[in-house]
Amino acid sequence: MPPQDRYVIAGGSGVLGRLLAAWWSRQGKEVVVLSRRADFSSEAARTVVWDGVSLDGWQRELDGAAALVNLTGRSVNCRYTARNRREILASRIDSTRVLGEALRRAEHPPPVWLNASTATLYRHSLDEPQDESVTEFVATPAAKDAFSIEVAQAWERTLWEADVPGVRRVALRAAMVFGRDPEGVFGVLQRLARWGLGGAMGDGKQMVSWIHETDFCRAIDWLIEHHELEGPVNLAAPGPLSNRAMMAAVRQAVGRRWGLPATRGMLELGAIFLRTETELILKSRYVVPTRLLASGFRFEFPEFRGAVGDLVGGSV
Ligand SMILES: NC(=O)c1ccc[n+]([C@@H]2O[C@H](COP(=O)([O-])OP(=O)(O)OC[C@H]3O[C@@H](n4cnc5c(N)ncnc54)[C@H](OP(=O)(O)O)[C@@H]3O)[C@@H](O)[C@H]2O)c1
Repeated sequence: MPPQDRYVIAGGSGVLGRLLAAWWSRQGKEVVVLSRRADFSSEAARTVVWDGVSLDGWQRELDGAAALVNLTGRSVNCRYTARNRREILASRIDSTRVLGEALRRAEHPPPVWLNASTATLYRHSLDEPQDESVTEFVATPAAKDAFSIEVAQAWERTLWEADVPGVRRVALRAAMVFGRDPEGVFGVLQRLARWGLGGAMGDGKQMVSWIHETDFCRAIDWLIEHHELEGPVNLAAPGPLSNRAMMAAVRQAVGRRWGLPATRGMLELGAIFLRTETELILKSRYVVPTRLLASGFRFEFPEFRGAVGDLVGGSV
């Protein structure tokens, strides 16, 4: 039997890593997950321990690999205390830097390196879709997004500064990935809606960019196969919608006709109790996938209602 192509997912024990590992494993690919946890196990992948900071033997997995995807990053779903800010930034910068170092030293580095970034990089926009042609990233005090934009820029800068001749690099500017994992964002929204808390958030006018989990995985495969695609790429469905419309569809998906709307003040208070930040729901993310569409990628789930209908196994 010919040797299988090896796909390495750094930070692959998280929501998106588990999704992608399962996707590739179903295709019969060999998947290696780099994790800090020796006890992380999965049927879809082989775990190799790293610390996300230094070279310590794990880099051998990159030699001869077909692709590297880096999904490492301390969760941003927390209060932005000084310590959490440090961890959010360092986990992304350190992992990206050390992967660049490993690729530089590899005898046969993979031809392509996809590194997570985020659609939150773009400005808070209510009226103008943001795509990869935008090069100025401006924070909006009311959206409290200065820190996230700073992190995203530093993260991408580290990727572009890596000295990795012959390795094609793509920054995955991913929107919220809607999938079946109860730990993911759709799981959280469904629980809120079931508890009767699925009303519009804030004034409900902020835009939400999202992508169905299948399209996320299909887009990753597409980026690996399409050698002409390099640089930043938005991973977001072509049909962003308002928070009000999104919550209406989520309520319908869980069979709730009504949900308590949450004012900005209520959300600020709730965020303190839930140890999170309102930016995650109040920032208007109006992000569209211009480069994917221009390259010929076709979304299986371009519209939100079709996407959530698929996820809950009904029509919405
Ligand atoms: N989910 C989304 O909708 C979405 C959207 C846009 C961008 N992103 C970005 O995509 C990446 C993956 O997202 P995800 O939802 O899969 O995240 P996740 O579930 O939080 O998983 C991220 C992984 O990063 C590793 N990690 C956490 N803290 C770390 C630290 N301090 N140092 C080194 N490694 C650390 C963990 O692996 P170990 O504990 O096994 O080491 C964890 O499993 C993240 O960078 C996220 O910001 C996600």
